[in-house]
Amino acid sequence: MLSRKIEDYLEAILNITEEKGYAKIKDIASTLGVKPPSVVEMVKKLDKMGFVEYRRYEGVILTEKGRIVGKAVQERHRAIRTFLEIIKVPKEIANKDACIMEHELEPETIGQIRNLVEFIMSNPEWLRHFEMFCVTARHQREVTEPKEG
Ligand code: FE2
Repeated sequence: MLSRKIEDYLEAILNITEEKGYAKIKDIASTLGVKPPSVVEMVKKLDKMGFVEYRRYEGVILTEKGRIVGKAVQERHRAIRTFLEIIKVPKEIANKDACIMEHELEPETIGQIRNLVEFIMSNPEWLRHFEMFCVTARHQREVTEPKEG
């Protein structure tokens, strides 16, 4: 299994490349919140491992091997972030926590999170009930059909 650091780098490089068409050291540094010299050091390691090609003036280019890993992490991130947003975690926190969970969870868990997200999305009514429950701590049933007596 790859280290969290490697996965984070490959995910960040993919995100930046998709957004800007290329990934420079300074973009990677600001995305990951690390200093440019540390990025250069890590990128050289990733180059040796065959995940990227580091070209001094063009920046960092993902190899096919690097792109596959980056894509897998990016997809895990999106599934978990969507799940967290569905359960009403604020966007910024959902994004931050997705970046932690994407490395730690078993594929079975992420698979079931994906299933749950699709299941809930196909019935938005539940989402509205849940939103109301978060605010009122009561199920809609109790709100619309108050108990007698
Ligand atoms: Fe992430």
